[in-house]
Parts: sequence; C-alpha cells; structure tokens
Amino acid sequence: MKSVTDAPAVKAPVLPDAQTVTDVKHWTDSLFSFKVSRPASLRFRSGEFVMIGLLGDNGKPLLRAYSIASPSWDEELEFYSIKVQNGPLTSKLQHIKPGDQIILRPKPVGTLVHDALLPGKRLWFFATGTGFAPFASLLREPQTYEDYDEVVITHTCREVAELEYGRQLIESIKQDEMLAELIGEGFADKIRYYPTTTREESPKMGRITDLLTDGTVFKDLGIDPINPETDRGMVCGSLAFNKDITEILEGFGLEEGANSDPKQFVVEKAFVG
Ligand code: A2P
Repeated sequence: MKSVTDAPAVKAPVLPDAQTVTDVKHWTDSLFSFKVSRPASLRFRSGEFVMIGLLGDNGKPLLRAYSIASPSWDEELEFYSIKVQNGPLTSKLQHIKPGDQIILRPKPVGTLVHDALLPGKRLWFFATGTGFAPFASLLREPQTYEDYDEVVITHTCREVAELEYGRQLIESIKQDEMLAELIGEGFADKIRYYPTTTREESPKMGRITDLLTDGTVFKDLGIDPINPETDRGMVCGSLAFNKDITEILEGFGLEEGANSDPKQFVVEKAFVG
C-alpha cells in the first residue's frame, strides 16, 4: 500500500485562479512583457482585457486590468506592463520568473474589439506607451486583415527604447509563415507602422495628436486624411491622450462606438498607462 508521501507530487495552485508564468522579457528599466498559461475555458476576443495580479501583503488579491497582448487563437496569454518602483502591483509583478504563479480572473471584457466598429476600409490603431498591448493582439488577429484593406498602427513613446517591443513584434509578424498561412499570403503588406518619440531623437518626432492635426501623418504615409466613410479607429493610451485623440477623431467626423452600439472609433477606458 502506498502512503500519502509516495503519491506523485501535484503542484497545487497556491493562488485563486492561478496561472503559471512561462516567459518574461525585460525591455527597459520601466517596461517588461510576460507570458502565462491559458485557462482551458478562457475564450476572448482579440483586443479585450482581463484582471490579473498577485496576492497583496494583506493576503487579498491585488488586481489590475491588463490588455491581453496575444491573439485569441494563441495557446498562451501575453501581457505588456510598466514597472512602477513603488506601484502596489507592478513593484512586485516585475520580479516574476518562469514557474511563478499569478492570479488571472478569466472574465475578458473591453471595447477595442472588431464588433464595436462599423465596416470600413482603413483601420487605425493609436497607442502610447503600454497602450500598444491590445494592438499586439489585434495585429495577429485574422479578422483585422479580412475586414480592412489597410491597418495603420501609430505608437508614441517618450524614448526610442520604449518602441522596441512593438517594433520587434511587427517585424516578427511580417516574417511569420504560420501567420501568413492562417491569415493569407501578403497580409503583412497591409500594415503601416508609424512610431514616434517625444523626448529622444528618432526619425519621426512629436505627439501623434500634433502630427494628425497638422497633416504630417497623412503626408508621410501618402494617404488621404481620416474620413468617416472609410476610416475606423481604436485608441489606447493615457487618459489625457484618449481625451485629446477623441477630440481629433471627432473633428474628422468620426463618432465613438461601443460593443452595443458600433460606430467609427472606440477607446479603451479601463487602460491605465
Ligand atoms: P510627451 O513626452 O510629450 O508627454 P506617458 O509616459 O506620459 O504616458 O507618455 C507616453 C507618450 O505619450 C509620450 O510620448 C507622451 O508625450 C505622449 N502623450 C502623453 N499625453 C499625450 C496627449 N495628451 N496627447 C498626445 N500624446 C501624449
């Protein structure tokens, strides 16, 4: 007869809704990305977010909204995060290593989904900082290329190094044969990447809001200005950014939509950069 101690070691989840970290990559002193196992039951639409976190010092879950950066078809879940040295969650989360566990509440929600937009020809993704995350998901989502002729991704950061996660992701998408098979040969030609920096020298400097307002973006990309008939937008950045870009898109005649009321652009309000 086997005693209890002979039984094979089964690693019991130490956290409620625990998932296991499989990969961690540090991009700068203030940015990192990581992957975790995906609960078998979790279904989500590319662009949505979930609540993730760790147990706080008081033993209670400390959770924040994180956009899922991986596409809906992926086996793992990827996240892209800031590190705030005295931030309640990210001061701890930044130290996770493969094999560690985090809490992941399997209830995806969010407004940056294809269902919240009316059909169009050109889709704009407007991101600042870690607001790039939902677009890392949507850029790998077949529907993005089925629904649109062109996808413009703008990413504004203070410094060049902060663009690197997005730059490498787009580069890898363009070379990914599995994605080409899934989405269709030549899909990557639809991607127009427009990175800008505001506090460090780079080939394109300035806030995307200013570059839209003075028409520089359209000139640089060789396209017509944003038009409510053809152009659709998704926005993810700081509160101030979301507000400013909303005004600009409304100025071009676009209206803000929601899951229940699809229109010409959507803004992720849960995101906290
Ligand atoms: P800036 O350097 O001019 O503030 P943050 O790290 O503060 O969230 O900013 C990330 C990037 O977003 C920075 O390049 C910043 O530019 C830019 N940004 C911040 N607020 C706005 C805004 N209201 N409109 C456009 N860009 C913004």
